[in-house]
Amino acid sequence: MTSSNPPEMSDQSRSILSVLERMSVLLSEAGVDPHPDAELLLAHVLGESRGRVQVLALMGTELTEPQHDAALELAATRAERIPLQHLTGKAAFRRLELEVGPGVFVPRPETEIVTQFALDALAAAADPHPIAVDLCTGSGAIALSLAHELPTAEVWAVEKSREAHAWAERNVDTYGDGRVHLMLGDAAEARTLLDPLAGRVHVLVSNPPYVPSGMVPREPEVRDHDPELALYSGADGLDLIRVISVVARDLVTSGGTLVLEHAELQGSAIRRILSADGWRATATHQDLTMRDRVTTAVR
Ligand SMILES: C[S@@+](CC[C@H](N)C(=O)[O-])C[C@H]1O[C@@H](n2cnc3c(N)ncnc32)[C@H](O)[C@@H]1O
Repeated sequence: MTSSNPPEMSDQSRSILSVLERMSVLLSEAGVDPHPDAELLLAHVLGESRGRVQVLALMGTELTEPQHDAALELAATRAERIPLQHLTGKAAFRRLELEVGPGVFVPRPETEIVTQFALDALAAAADPHPIAVDLCTGSGAIALSLAHELPTAEVWAVEKSREAHAWAERNVDTYGDGRVHLMLGDAAEARTLLDPLAGRVHVLVSNPPYVPSGMVPREPEVRDHDPELALYSGADGLDLIRVISVVARDLVTSGGTLVLEHAELQGSAIRRILSADGWRATATHQDLTMRDRVTTAVR
């Protein structure tokens, strides 16, 4: 006779491995990739890192009943396609852990590459205190990363949505170091809002809304939880980019750089817009998955 547990016993096991397994089933059935979500949700419950959860799992650690219940409840909520970052309240972006939640766009990995282009151009500026502007800052992800990774930089960030601006304010309080100046306003008014910076900006970067209005994203996390203002921008998705191209021309110094994130198939249209507005050296670059996702130009 073998001595294995009856199935109902192992179903109730509170070992981390067993709970992760049950969380993974819930997530997979809802079409959510359980890796890394199950471990990240459990890490959130335990107040530990994901790596520590993996170690505890290998050590055969048992959860307490409240931890067990909280973990399975979170997995069930995530299975309703609520974004992971809305459940943990955090989004990792480059070296920062930003506060996010309903009302603000969750920063994405591809924007880390966009930020790198802006950072490289900012670091190359001859000025000992280079100036950057981040239009459509959302959670403040790009602006805060620039300031954090280049401690000589001064950064201005503009956001139109009051809700998103409130999230950015919290992140600026945590990471701004007194060098990120956050403004509530429309990117279209940036020339007026940032009047003292006219002709002095070394890098103007933006991850604006760029989804064509007819192209509703399929993922429920994006479609139902990212704010509409963060996604859509006219029939071809380029309405705000057209505006930014003109506004940025007056703000950026001669030889300064414009960095724009966009969708995979928009590179050539954006290069045409920028060239027509007098930008030089327009170039489109790929992200880590080899998709055209960022266009740069020189004033
Ligand atoms: C795609 S999200 C990017 C947010 C952030 N930069 C990031 O990369 O995570 C676009 C952001 O632009 C803001 N936005 C949309 N239209 C705007 C406008 N006319 N002026 C300023 N911000 C705007 C949205 O509220 C949203 O926060």
